[in-house]
Amino acid sequence: MAARRPAAPRCRCGPRLRRRPLHRLRRRQLLPPPRIRSPHVRRQQVNGRVRLLQRRRRLPHRATARDPELLITTECGKMLVPPGEIVVIPQGFRFAVDLPDGPSRGYVSEIFGAHFQLPDLGPIGANGLASARDFLSPTAWFEQVHRPGYVIVQKYGGELFTATQDFSPFNVVAWHGNYVPYKYDLSKFCPFNTVLFDHADPSVNTVLTAPTDKPGVALLDFVIFPPRWLVAENTFRPPYYHRNCMSEFMGLIYGVYEAKADGFLPGGASLHSCMTPHGPDTKTYEATISKLGGPDANTPTRLSGTLAFMFESALIPRVCRWALESPSRDLDYYQCWIGLKSHFSHGNDDGPSLAPTDDGDKDGEK
Ligand SMILES: [Fe+2]
Repeated sequence: MAARRPAAPRCRCGPRLRRRPLHRLRRRQLLPPPRIRSPHVRRQQVNGRVRLLQRRRRLPHRATARDPELLITTECGKMLVPPGEIVVIPQGFRFAVDLPDGPSRGYVSEIFGAHFQLPDLGPIGANGLASARDFLSPTAWFEQVHRPGYVIVQKYGGELFTATQDFSPFNVVAWHGNYVPYKYDLSKFCPFNTVLFDHADPSVNTVLTAPTDKPGVALLDFVIFPPRWLVAENTFRPPYYHRNCMSEFMGLIYGVYEAKADGFLPGGASLHSCMTPHGPDTKTYEATISKLGGPDANTPTRLSGTLAFMFESALIPRVCRWALESPSRDLDYYQCWIGLKSHFSHGNDDGPSLAPTDDGDKDGEK
């Protein structure tokens, strides 16, 4: 008996969705409705490498009455991108970002030499983390109008160049293939974690990865920490203290990050370079330690209303002068760990002492 094909899901941005085979991902087509441009709209065209845009709410401490959206026009079509979604634009595509709701901010990563793909699921098996079915790409859209003075911004060799033309670059009437822009709603990510004790490696939260030739070492992993349940027993539940060979750029899209009680606000970012030790701040550590052994220590709790992310790379980033001289730089960041003290104590020294002979992590990468 033939199986009946399920109805294609409908996006709130537009009704026309259909599937196309893509490189490592199957994505659906999306055509947003036409929008009225406001005087705040800003238009820019950039032809660059792979880019990933991460949007967040406009105001740092509270949700806006109407969240600002991005309207991204590419040579393959348009994508309406609300906060909490990411967009990937492959190298070479011309695109424009309109701001129909006014100013907005977000995070961008640009990579060279590889493309994003879904991570291997390993023992997870067939389902979990980001699913290929949730990645959307636009249907073809074009404009055939006279556009004198249309400025193209082109990135080449690390520098930006401009060119002027009298026609729109968005003149592709149809397309097929698997080298296309796409977007993804981060709320559709299916998180995995421990269900009894200890921590899973943070890589279990990888949405997309750009691999290197060395297995397990990423040019860039895009990792998120979405709302989820914490259920580990007899375990220090916040992220553990560690240092590792990857460099970690973290950002907070909204809410509160579980490892920083304060000082890490939405729109902010932190950078822990290779082998820089880091972990929860003193306030979070002490609050967690004080509960251990108590009646609520093992009660399942839900982290809600939060979305943090991380760009994790095997490369060592260089911080530009603009960032180093920025008035927004937090020179007192290190003080979030001031006051940390050990809560360990010696047990019975008279008994036999046994230890595992192999912790299974020779590389110590995490
Ligand atoms: Fe880390």
